[in-house]
Amino acid sequence: MKLGFIGTGALSSAIVTGLKSLPGEKTSVVLSPRNEEIAAGLAAEFPDVRVAVDNQAVLDDCDTVMLGVRPQIAHDVLPQLRFRPDHHVVSLIATFSRDEIAAMIGPVKRVTKALPMPMIAIRMGPTIIFPPDADMAAFFGRLGTAIEVASESEFDALSVATATYASYFKYLETIHGWLKDNGVDDAKGRDYVASLFAALGQAPETTPDSSFAHLAADYATRGGINEQVLRELTEHGTFDQFRESLNGIHRRITAVS
Ligand SMILES: NC(=O)c1ccc[n+]([C@@H]2O[C@H](COP(=O)([O-])OP(=O)(O)OC[C@H]3O[C@@H](n4cnc5c(N)ncnc54)[C@H](OP(=O)(O)O)[C@@H]3O)[C@@H](O)[C@H]2O)c1
Repeated sequence: MKLGFIGTGALSSAIVTGLKSLPGEKTSVVLSPRNEEIAAGLAAEFPDVRVAVDNQAVLDDCDTVMLGVRPQIAHDVLPQLRFRPDHHVVSLIATFSRDEIAAMIGPVKRVTKALPMPMIAIRMGPTIIFPPDADMAAFFGRLGTAIEVASESEFDALSVATATYASYFKYLETIHGWLKDNGVDDAKGRDYVASLFAALGQAPETTPDSSFAHLAADYATRGGINEQVLRELTEHGTFDQFRESLNGIHRRITAVS
């Protein structure tokens, strides 16, 4: 594979970093020159990565091209580029449907949507792929977990889950803040919360047959302190409100695409 990137920003950089952290990895990577600093930094760090003179030169020198620009830039830039019918175009642009991308890139026959996460830089986390594609499943499978889906509606529903990170960290911050207010040293509280949730994060993989509901029940000993917090949050409608927020994100995502 000769891999190219149109748009060398946060996500493209994370993919290249994850890819090139694989032992003995030799895929040729060509980057568009923007962002100049990020592209130059990646080319300086990894031997098989270079920066093209412009976007067209990226296309001319690759067979697989990932689109890592923001949506508003994509509208301006993509229709002006000469794609070949044999290019495999992988759109990372979260808010555009596959049909919208296909309409901007002319003769290309093979168009895949992929939604990796920034943690791909350390080869962790899921990448949603639509439609199923063996090459992209293999590519992203080496950089975390590849999840192929057969419909764009499933892709959209899964992407709703990506709207929950900030709230997750707010949850941890609430615990950390409470610990500090109750006399726990700042750094110790942070280490405690980080280590605790890293360990809890292992539970679904170490007990693959347990549903999340089972795990919640397992940890909520009857009459115990976990049961109390869970019951109080549930009674306050916290989880209903959370679910309603997910519905709102879903409406937003599906309205755009
Ligand atoms: N970051 C994430 O976690 C994430 C997750 C999932 C999906 N995505 C999707 O990935 C795409 C990129 O996101 P990002 O966070 O990587 O954004 P970003 O950091 O802003 O990167 C976009 C890059 O595009 C470059 N660019 C601007 N105009 C260009 C042009 N005419 N030709 C080529 N490149 C150009 C920008 O360069 P300058 O800095 O020079 O303007 C910038 O480096 C978005 O569509 C987003 O929906 C991102």
